[in-house]
Amino acid sequence: MRFLLLLLAFPALAQLPTANPPVVAAHALVVSAHPVASQVGRDILKQGGNAYDAAVAVQFALAVVYPVAGNIGGGGFIVYRDHSGTTGTLDFRETAPAAARRDMYLDKAGQVVPGLSTAGALAVGTPGTVAGMDVLHKKLGKLPWVNLVAPAVRLARRGVALTAKEAAGLNRTQADFTQHNPDKQPAFVRDAPWQAGDTLKQSELAIILERIQFQGRTGFYQGETARLLLAQMRAGGGLITQTDLDAYQPKWREPLRGQYRGYEVITMPPPSSGGVALLQMLQMLAPFDLKKLGYHTPAAVGLLTEAERRAYADRATYLGDPDFGRVPVQQLLAKSYNQQRFRGIRPDAPATPSAQVSAGAGLPRYESDQTTHYSIVDGAGNAVSCTTTLNGAYGSKVVVAGAGFLLNNEMDDFSSKVGVPNMYGLVGGVANAIAPGKRMLSSMTPTILVHNKKLVLVTGSPGGSTIITSVLQSILAVVDYGANAQQAVAAPRLHHQWLPDQLDAEAGALTPAAEQLLRQRGFNPQPRNPWGKLDIIRVLPGGTLEGGADPRGDDAAVGY
Ligand code: GLY
Repeated sequence: MRFLLLLLAFPALAQLPTANPPVVAAHALVVSAHPVASQVGRDILKQGGNAYDAAVAVQFALAVVYPVAGNIGGGGFIVYRDHSGTTGTLDFRETAPAAARRDMYLDKAGQVVPGLSTAGALAVGTPGTVAGMDVLHKKLGKLPWVNLVAPAVRLARRGVALTAKEAAGLNRTQADFTQHNPDKQPAFVRDAPWQAGDTLKQSELAIILERIQFQGRTGFYQGETARLLLAQMRAGGGLITQTDLDAYQPKWREPLRGQYRGYEVITMPPPSSGGVALLQMLQMLAPFDLKKLGYHTPAAVGLLTEAERRAYADRATYLGDPDFGRVPVQQLLAKSYNQQRFRGIRPDAPATPSAQVSAGAGLPRYESDQTTHYSIVDGAGNAVSCTTTLNGAYGSKVVVAGAGFLLNNEMDDFSSKVGVPNMYGLVGGVANAIAPGKRMLSSMTPTILVHNKKLVLVTGSPGGSTIITSVLQSILAVVDYGANAQQAVAAPRLHHQWLPDQLDAEAGALTPAAEQLLRQRGFNPQPRNPWGKLDIIRVLPGGTLEGGADPRGDDAAVGY
């Protein structure tokens, strides 16, 4: 009764905000962070390529047209579902070099040395992207590999017109590029500020991509490209050796599956934390009628925040690379466990301070936010959800001299020291401590939803620690609130990650009255600049594809 009164007090909050109409396509659709990359994917599909071919072409195109996060020097995860319902995931996450040590970012007093894990050669994990694309194509691709890398080679050689956002990003990073590439100025650096429409040519990168085009994996992990990468490591004090490059292997992993209001949710297992946390939060929210509670009402926001708080507390304690210790995935996903975690939580309940919430007990111990996402559905109904990253904006800011590609700063996704927050403010435990060859914990959450055995949603986002809650909100928007694809990506977002104990709110996510009421109940809403870039595809009952491209970036949906 009390929360019904609350609803009546905030009728204006009960609706999703309107947005531009979504892009619709009858056959196939690509949604990515850059219009040119989406066009590249669409062209591959039109030439008879499948969604996996398009994913390879989009990945390499993004490495050229979207250097802030698109990459060949990073890694990522793919969740896929083919037209017959077969599902799988591909983990091409970076690994810690063999010489990495648990305390490598600590000083003699045991304190974290600021910046060491976030920029420069020591921050770089062994890249996984090229090896990942290679196995993806070998297992599921249809068109010749050379055709898929060709558009990226062309774009790097001829140049691409910078968008206003990319020009601003490059201008913001000039000093970092100069500091971390003292011996050779990369193509991203110039004397005059970049302007929208300026052409960025990357001739060195074109040569590397051409080598990958004709030699596949070998063209990156061996020979001249490897020689340049290793020289860069030696010059900057990095740890990667030829042994690390030779040892790197992407991994096919079984997806995680959960149920939410009759939808099957297919998502990424560890070493991403995203899938586990997403399925935990959906289980905690499932008993509540969110639609009835209203969109972003204090009642619905209270529940969302409490679910996020608990899932992120578990993340910090239990999750890490499953190849290096036991991650209690089944226990974390058990219905009884999540019911117990959410016991006593009501829509009108006062906030539980994070200081009073720790990870659930009794489970076996383990023992920029710039990433980018693309969603692809082809004419046969094959679906790819891929999130890929250099970690921070332009990764470690280290550009391999003579090769023109950026290296990741993914080592910061490990816990440099138990309990000390990383660049996303995330704390981690021993489960995510550094070890040679280990994969650092991720938040990337590529996800696919199926209803009555039919594909209905392909979703994912960048955004560091906010990725998981952005993906969650895209699902709630579509499933609970009836959003179309564009509404789902455009809607203002909320985020809570246990620590720090604050509810981040984009402008317009909460009305002043809702914010005040949440504050009175003990929540701690804080305004925050926009985050995340959800790029999603919704499949309508008749088979029409609806693309949602996040208006926070240059993202574009292109189909036919
Ligand atoms: N580097 C961001 C993530 O993997 O979560």
